[in-house]
Amino acid sequence: EAAPYVPALVVGTGYGAAVTALRLGAAGIRTTMIEMGQLWNTPGKDGKVFCSTLKPDRRSMWFSSRTKAPLDTFLWLDVVNRDLGRPYAGVLDRIDFPNMGVYVGRGVGGGSLVNGGMAPTPQRAYFEKMLPTVDADAMYKRYFPLARRMLGVNTIDPRYLEQTPVYKYARVSRRHAHQAGFRTSVVPNVYDFNYLRREENKQAPRSALAGEVIYGNNHGKQSLDKTYLADALGTGNVTIRTLTRVTTIRQQGKGYLVGLEQIDVWGKVVRRSEISCGSLFLGAGSIGTTELLLRARETGTLPDLPTAIGNGWGTNGNVMTARANHLWDPTGSLQSTIPTLAIDNWNDPKHPAFAEIAPLPVGLETWASLYLAITVNPERGRFTYNHTTDRADLHWSASQSTPSLRSAQALFDKINNAIGTTYRRDLFAGNRAFAADFCYHPLGGALLGKATDNYGRVRNHPGLYVTDSSLIPGSLGVNPFVTITALAERNIAHVLATDLKRR
Ligand code: FDA
Repeated sequence: EAAPYVPALVVGTGYGAAVTALRLGAAGIRTTMIEMGQLWNTPGKDGKVFCSTLKPDRRSMWFSSRTKAPLDTFLWLDVVNRDLGRPYAGVLDRIDFPNMGVYVGRGVGGGSLVNGGMAPTPQRAYFEKMLPTVDADAMYKRYFPLARRMLGVNTIDPRYLEQTPVYKYARVSRRHAHQAGFRTSVVPNVYDFNYLRREENKQAPRSALAGEVIYGNNHGKQSLDKTYLADALGTGNVTIRTLTRVTTIRQQGKGYLVGLEQIDVWGKVVRRSEISCGSLFLGAGSIGTTELLLRARETGTLPDLPTAIGNGWGTNGNVMTARANHLWDPTGSLQSTIPTLAIDNWNDPKHPAFAEIAPLPVGLETWASLYLAITVNPERGRFTYNHTTDRADLHWSASQSTPSLRSAQALFDKINNAIGTTYRRDLFAGNRAFAADFCYHPLGGALLGKATDNYGRVRNHPGLYVTDSSLIPGSLGVNPFVTITALAERNIAHVLATDLKRR
């Protein structure tokens, strides 16, 4: 029996995939998207689609018997993580490699389901340094504004920011940064700040004020299922298959034959099948896309894939840290999970850092200031294919995180000195003040201009494209999804105009 055929197949439903599917569908090209996670639209027994960080249940994690929150403990107590019972197809995954845990979203919308919604655009000079072959004029005049508009990016009303108790934590950290001589900036977001105001006033169900974020937001956040993916389905040419993982890719005529594995919510494989396509777009995320390409090259189904695949991976310099405030500097017991301010020390010649001021929304006063810093880290990791496990292995040594740690420490030592405060050591295992052994911003693995041409076409493989964060070489200086979206817009516009004229 011949495998069914679709003109265009898109792997994943995150940013790169969603942009690509919308533009293909709008151009009249029948497109199927394959997503290994669930469609998150059905409320559980509690009436909610997603669970909160305060009361996580099986919906929280992708096939894990325990939550794996970024903080290990609170006041050194094992109160952060919970047992979950039978492993389930939850929304947040943490892929653990030696020395590095990588968080990713699972479900229709990919990372947009679990992320903090922060939507900054990188500094142009740094963007040009990281992606020198991309026409920056086209990006900054056309594709960044397009991405921001499509994603529903908005900025907090400054008067609200100054008076609301839910951003007291942000104002306290901002004051401390200013006292130490640093600048801060307001960071745009895709969480609707008008909704936030209404939930604060008890006019709407709480989400950002109910501890919801890394296991999903039930309200307020413009995740991709509400933006790009809704529009893609609206073209009438796009369909999405969920709980289905792409496993293999091989050449078939002028197109590709793709192996699929469908599971139930408990992880049992219920069906194996194949689908063939004319064009294949990989949007499975930095790790997902890189793994698919490495597997195809190393198992010989696409033996001529470029040697550059697997290279150039980075953490965007992610480091998490927390400071212990004085008793007269409370940060508030009701905190919005959606960050809105950052310390911008990016132009520091020695220790550039862009540190988002993060909440610690535990529902009681903590006197803690939490931060996720993005630093410059020139170190790059590398993936290889492991024949025994059939997975990609990441090679990242603990010492490769040192440049990130140094930059973050330079910044926060200065703040602690100016304020007379210290680090919190109760949050990360081993009494550490800093954690650079996990990241939220995996970037690279199939770099633009190296593994692909300048528009994401995989070298020597007509009809095979990379659309996602694996194109970006390890660092952007700010949170990445606006850039992933804008780059995907730019690439698919070019590919549609040159490769995919309507058949
Ligand atoms: P993305 O990872 O979004 O999507 C890939 C999809 O493909 C997933 O749905 C996955 O399940 C699916 N998939 C993978 N392999 C597959 C296979 N073999 N078959 C089928 N499906 C497969 N960024 C930002 O800009 N601002 C922020 O505030 C934050 N905050 C943040 C918090 C947390 C907790 C996380 C985990 C991440 C962030 N990020 C962020 C990062 C941001 O979410 C991330 O950079 C993007 O989601 C990456 O987009 P991609 O399109 O590359 O893939």
